[in-house]
Amino acid sequence: MLDRPNLRDSKLHVVILAAGKGTRMQSKLPKVLHSLAGRSMLARVLDVAERLNPVSIRVVVGFEAAVIQTACPMPHVTWVMQAQQSGTGHAVACAVADLQHSADTPSSDDRVLVLYGDVPLLSVPVLAPLILASQESALGILSTRVDDPAGYGRIIRDAAGNMLAIREHRDALPDELLIHEINTGILIARLGDLCAWLPQLAPHNAQGELYLTDIVGLARAENKAITTRIEPDPLLVTGINDRWALAEMERAWQLRQAQSLALSGTTIVDPSRLDIRGEVISGVDNLIDVNVVLEGRVTLGNAVIIEPNCVLRNVTLGDGVRVRAFSHLDGAELASGVEVGPFARLRPGTHLAANSRVGNFVEIKASHIGAGSKINHLSYVGDTTMGADCNIGAGTITCNYDGANKHHTELGDSVFVGSGSQLVAPVRVGDGATIGAGSTITHDVPAGHLAVARVRQTMRAGWQRPKKTVK
Ligand code: UD1
Ligand code: CA
Repeated sequence: MLDRPNLRDSKLHVVILAAGKGTRMQSKLPKVLHSLAGRSMLARVLDVAERLNPVSIRVVVGFEAAVIQTACPMPHVTWVMQAQQSGTGHAVACAVADLQHSADTPSSDDRVLVLYGDVPLLSVPVLAPLILASQESALGILSTRVDDPAGYGRIIRDAAGNMLAIREHRDALPDELLIHEINTGILIARLGDLCAWLPQLAPHNAQGELYLTDIVGLARAENKAITTRIEPDPLLVTGINDRWALAEMERAWQLRQAQSLALSGTTIVDPSRLDIRGEVISGVDNLIDVNVVLEGRVTLGNAVIIEPNCVLRNVTLGDGVRVRAFSHLDGAELASGVEVGPFARLRPGTHLAANSRVGNFVEIKASHIGAGSKINHLSYVGDTTMGADCNIGAGTITCNYDGANKHHTELGDSVFVGSGSQLVAPVRVGDGATIGAGSTITHDVPAGHLAVARVRQTMRAGWQRPKKTVK
């Protein structure tokens, strides 16, 4: 994998801070469980941590700890409780204490990488240069430059550019507030040094908390080497504090995804009206019209057209597929040349073979539709295997559920089902069979047969319609 450099660092431990309530989110849900592009912030950070292949991963939790643990069931993660949120320094101290007494048997030479659970766009390519560049240092700090540094810790440097300290916004002097280089919160330190520094932290600051950032000053006082790396792309290391920041990051990230799709050969009609909440693998000359949401893993062949207002989740579309407006596709596989919609609903387990056609107000679930078959109007097809070149009339229903169990319907090739028919499963219809409109088919129909299963038409001449009685 491209973004998985060879970092199998047998001396690396990751600590993720996620104990805070995130008061500014105005939410009952812990901040780190809010989602960016369809995945919780913490799940994203955990994913990055796992990709680094560290010896251990610890997540410090406090507010709604159980909710977070349930939401992120990760087997390789050790959860550390921080009962009271007395600051980032205290949170790391909790994790380090747990690490030292754990079966991970760390040595003082091991390194601890601190990540924040509220930095959702973090990635291995962002972290790798910091991890590599700081290998010989006691401390490595990741900073970035932003237009609006309000609220962040400022990086204080001397005239030669050496980092002197990190000053929190609330503790900063007026001229320090003018600094645009900010602390991302991400740092890496030797375990031995951390163990020496953390007990020295004191809550002498505006928030009365133990600031992890104060270890910079302690490292300086000991003349320990500090490596700093400035991440050139602030978006990737920005922490989220409120829902507006989350909304802005979502839009910025969506725009980037749209851009990368466009640059790899897909026409995006309006980049601000496409949302990708997962992974898209796309060929060339595809067109995505406005208000389309792509979720999970979406694979597009070439020359695919997705018309306006469609939701596609975990789907694979072959070459030349056309998804017409207002369609909802979930867990479906469409072979080349297929056309669906407008207003089609494809549910998990739907396989549409080449050049088949599903029209408006048709729902299909757990079914295989053969090549060239057509289900054009107002039908429900569930638990069905259909051969090639069938023609399913308007309003056809497979009655797959008897109230307790689901049953299968099997149609051969070139079956013609007249409009308004019900196929009561389990039932089989052979190749070339024809079913008369309005039939309720309860028995198998052999190949080549005509089946008509409806009440015969009766007629009375000169029929008098009832008249309205006048009171
Ligand atoms: C922190 C940094 C600041 C940096 C900013 C980047 C400190 C003192 N400040 O400020 O320099 O610019 O992040 O976004 O480190 N947490 C705990 N336990 C606690 C306190 C916090 O686990 O006792 C967790 C939070 O859940 C969060 C992370 O640590 O995931 C950061 O905490 P937060 O309160 O958001 O710090 P900031 O004030 O943003
Ligand atoms: Ca923060």
